Amino acid sequence: MRRLDQLLANLGYCSRREARAWIDDGRVTVRGESADNVSQKADPADVRVDGEPLDHPAGLLLLLHKPLGLVCSHDGREGPSVYGLLPARWQRRNPPVTSVGRLDKDTSGLLLLTDQSELVHRLTSPKHKVAKVYGATLSHGLPAGITELFASGTLLLKEEDAPCAPAALNIISPREAELTLTEGRYHQVRRMFASQGCEVVTLHRPRFGHLELGDLPVGQWRALPLTEFAR
Ligand code: URA
Repeated sequence: MRRLDQLLANLGYCSRREARAWIDDGRVTVRGESADNVSQKADPADVRVDGEPLDHPAGLLLLLHKPLGLVCSHDGREGPSVYGLLPARWQRRNPPVTSVGRLDKDTSGLLLLTDQSELVHRLTSPKHKVAKVYGATLSHGLPAGITELFASGTLLLKEEDAPCAPAALNIISPREAELTLTEGRYHQVRRMFASQGCEVVTLHRPRFGHLELGDLPVGQWRALPLTEFAR
C-alpha cells in the first residue's frame, strides 16, 4: 500500500503538489471510486489515472537498441543520452531508470535499462559471469595467439592490478571478431584490443546474457518482464 501522492510522483506522473490537484479534479480513482486525498493509501494495482491503469507500477526493465552517438549518463553536460529516447514520464521516475552497465558513446547495441537497483548490481557483478557479446571491427589484422591470450585470464590492462577474466574471442576475418566478456571494465573491449596493437573501429553488442537484439530497430526498446532474470 502506498500513499497516492508518493505513488504518482515516483511513477513520474506529476509532482506531489500536483497530485493534490489531480485528486481534487477527480482524475484519480481507487477501485473505481474517486480518491479522496493525497495521503490515502492504495495498492498500485487498484489505482487508475484518467481511467487508465498505472504505467508499470512494479518497476521497469527495458531492452534498448542503443544508437551510436548517445551516452549512458544522467549528466546533461556529457551530451545527448539514451534516457532522452524514453517517454518523459519514465525519465521522471524515482528510483530513476538507469542502465545496466554502460556502452560508450561510440558503441551501439543491446543495453538494459531498469529502475531495479538490485538487478543492476546482480547483472553487473563479475561474480555472476553474465556473458556479454561484442562484435568489433579493427584497424589492423589480429596478431597470432590473441585468442589464447584473451582466454588465458592473464591479460593485464594498463593501470590495473588484476588481470582480465578469461574472454572468448571468435575471429571472423582478419579485422573482424566477436568477443565474449563476463565482466565490464571501463572501455574494456577497446583496451583489450589496444593492448595488442589493434584499434577498435566499430563496436556493437548484439547479446547480453540470454537476450538478443534480434530485429529491434535502432533507438527502439521493448519492455521485459521483471522476472526475466529470475531463472
Ligand atoms: N567495451 C568497450 O570498450 N566499450 C563498450 O561500450 C563496451 C565494452
